[in-house]
Amino acid sequence: MRGTRVEIRPAALAHNARRARALADGAEVFAMVKANGYGHGLTLAANAMAGDVDGFGVALMEEARTLREQGIGQPVLVAEGFFDQEELELARLFSLDVVVHSLWQVKLLLAHPGPIRIWLKLNTGMNRLGLRPSTAMEAAGQLAAAGMKPVGVMSHFACADDASDTTTDKQLLLAREVAERLHLPLSLANSAALIRYPQTHAQRVRPGIMLYGSSPFDWQSAAELDLRVSHRFSARLIAINDIQPGESVGYGATWTAAAPGRVGVVAVGYGDGYPRHAPSGTPAAVNGQPTVLVGRVSMDMLTIDLNGIEAKVGDEVELWGDDVDVDAVARACGTISYELLCQVTTRPERVIV
Ligand SMILES: Cc1ncc(COP(=O)(O)O)c(C=O)c1O
Repeated sequence: MRGTRVEIRPAALAHNARRARALADGAEVFAMVKANGYGHGLTLAANAMAGDVDGFGVALMEEARTLREQGIGQPVLVAEGFFDQEELELARLFSLDVVVHSLWQVKLLLAHPGPIRIWLKLNTGMNRLGLRPSTAMEAAGQLAAAGMKPVGVMSHFACADDASDTTTDKQLLLAREVAERLHLPLSLANSAALIRYPQTHAQRVRPGIMLYGSSPFDWQSAAELDLRVSHRFSARLIAINDIQPGESVGYGATWTAAAPGRVGVVAVGYGDGYPRHAPSGTPAAVNGQPTVLVGRVSMDMLTIDLNGIEAKVGDEVELWGDDVDVDAVARACGTISYELLCQVTTRPERVIV
């Protein structure tokens, strides 16, 4: 066996969901499980957290459908709503909460009226999806007149995880005004806002990344936030090579040894979803001992520094998990943990612990 594996920990997901629940201070908690449960498995993540949250959030109708077909009966919010009439009918069939973010969706609803739970999405400054406040008020009126009064108002924060954030309060004010004028519940908070801005909790929060054992902030670790590791990625050492000063390692010869040493070859690469752009110096750990990548990541292998490290062929190398913070790997790669967790391929073995 190659031994490249992802360990998923349902108990950690449940713990993290309880942390979200405690922070939410009475607001409904909708766990975002889109993108295959941030790489943990859609149904697995939902089942693991079902007892500790009020509902789930997905991006797409297919994801919502999978949850329903796998027996998840709790409310499901579809963040991109329906793409066409067929999906609108599916939303009705599966009793989903759909986000309406654009006027073309309002038109489609008015052309096909019927019972449906609509969360009207506001553009409060993210300028991605959502209706501007005045347009949203108008749309809410038209929908109500056709018997489809929205059940809630939502928006999404652009900078709640940013140390120098000045936009969240402005977004909050705009959204709150519309929700109050429409007398509707409001949902805004992602993980960062849930943890950092209690004033944004309103009636429903929508945490994602914190549930998966990662911190939304670069100044505070997941452990400091009492979040548990739910996703551990590891592989085995398959060769150990001596290296002389001046010799390089891997494609492109991007790393050269300055002194005599040892390099370990690890059976994981971008074909498994480990990021190819992880530079030399990206953290890893062998038998609990911290080390770093040297040389370029290839499709099936990567190489690590074994100087001063006790290791033999067959030993396990942790890529992220208990000894190596996934957020530290993400920072080294110039990306975010979300991307690392989502992009692990189906090639590594999956173990539910
Ligand atoms: C609409 C919406 N709500 C909530 C979230 C959860 O955000 P986070 O994972 O940062 O907590 C996301 C994720 O991007 C989202 O798109």
